[in-house]
Amino acid sequence: MASADPDIAPAPVVVDAAMLSGPRFAALPPLALYVHIPWCLRKCPYCDFNSHEARGDAPEAAYVDALLQDLEYALPSVWSRRVVSVFIGGGTPSLFSANAIDRLLAGIRARVPLSPDAEITLEANPGTFERGKFAGFRVAGVNRLSLGIQSFDPKHLAALGRVHDADEARRAAEAALAIFGNVNFDLMYALPGQTVAQAESDVATALSFAPAHLSFYHLTLEPNTLFHRYPPPLPDEETAADIEDAIHARLDAAGYRHYETSAHARPGQECRHNLNYWRFGDYLGIGAGAHSKLSFADRIVRQVRYRQPKQYLEQIAEGAPLQEDHVVTRAEVGFEFMLNALRLTDGVPASLFAERTGYPLALVRHGLTAAESRGLIERDPALVRPSELGRRFLNDLQALFLADEPANARQLR
Ligand SMILES: C[S@@+](CC[C@H](N)C(=O)[O-])C[C@H]1O[C@@H](n2cnc3c(N)ncnc32)[C@H](O)[C@@H]1O
Ligand code: SF4
Repeated sequence: MASADPDIAPAPVVVDAAMLSGPRFAALPPLALYVHIPWCLRKCPYCDFNSHEARGDAPEAAYVDALLQDLEYALPSVWSRRVVSVFIGGGTPSLFSANAIDRLLAGIRARVPLSPDAEITLEANPGTFERGKFAGFRVAGVNRLSLGIQSFDPKHLAALGRVHDADEARRAAEAALAIFGNVNFDLMYALPGQTVAQAESDVATALSFAPAHLSFYHLTLEPNTLFHRYPPPLPDEETAADIEDAIHARLDAAGYRHYETSAHARPGQECRHNLNYWRFGDYLGIGAGAHSKLSFADRIVRQVRYRQPKQYLEQIAEGAPLQEDHVVTRAEVGFEFMLNALRLTDGVPASLFAERTGYPLALVRHGLTAAESRGLIERDPALVRPSELGRRFLNDLQALFLADEPANARQLR
């Protein structure tokens, strides 16, 4: 058909059958399980996670019952698939007793086949630290602890509204290392009034514990937070960039590989659960507001559970915990894959695209060509890997894949 606009030549119609049908999978991706615990001792002023002040006791027993019921409802979607990792996140899962976590993990094991070497992570806040409780988490089967330290500087902890002080952070860190061995610390940088020297001191203290893994997040002002409404005095862009460079240099010198945008690990100690997200693996998310991405022979679906804990519990009782449930379209899937894979310093094998999306890599050829011509990805036919420039301007790089759909496919949808 001729174009209506005389200045635009008609595009050659190249119909690629593989791109016009739905996805096709030779094998389904690895499956991980995420469990959301939505309560905290107190809401931090910078945090937009689905976390709610516990105000007295969180309904721990009823919530564990609901999680196991939730998993049971979801079983037909993951039937017979092995679970390779479990991540109990929040909120503050360490608010729960060791007994509750034990019942949760036993209930999970009774319902899904868990790999014998599954990584089982639990997120903990130093403000909830009790040695006996943390030891109980380990006995329950948790084999990796992720501790929300944020900073070791009393002034910064106070500015962040944390419930714990620096001594409590150190004590929890020490005990976590002794009990679990495999530990991550979450720290944030570009904190209110923070200097390069103060950030370096945080890194040095963190390194003195020699954890397996360190996550360093640039503090961001998220909408719907107190910090967004009343912004604290943050370091300017140049200082923030200097802080980031200093952190990365110190971690690199100490043998921690910067393997993902915010994650650093000793070789072989990368977070397997998160790597599965970045490699576009599957995950079932249970609990209030949890997200899932699940592949079937002919489609990928995304689901979101009801977000408010009370409503989630009511919906579980009704047998209908899903607030959203939709099939990922061909137009979305290329962008979603690249959004994740490009966070990884080493990128991913090019063949992973077809394995995990069910479409040939040609689905994102326009984005790849644009990214290559701007020097944002490396030219290697066997790999999809961001260049150093691409890592620095990751948002710009990811955005190139937003509308990456061949015109012919768009017309024929
Ligand atoms: C669910 S919390 C971790 C466990 C626990 N709730 C705690 O805070 O101790 C996940 C992590 O996200 C990071 N985070 C939360 N809000 C952030 C923000 N606005 N900017 C940067 N990082 C943030 C923090 O480092 C936090 O430890
Ligand atoms: S940062 Fe952690 S402790 Fe603070 S409100 Fe968010 S989830 Fe809760």
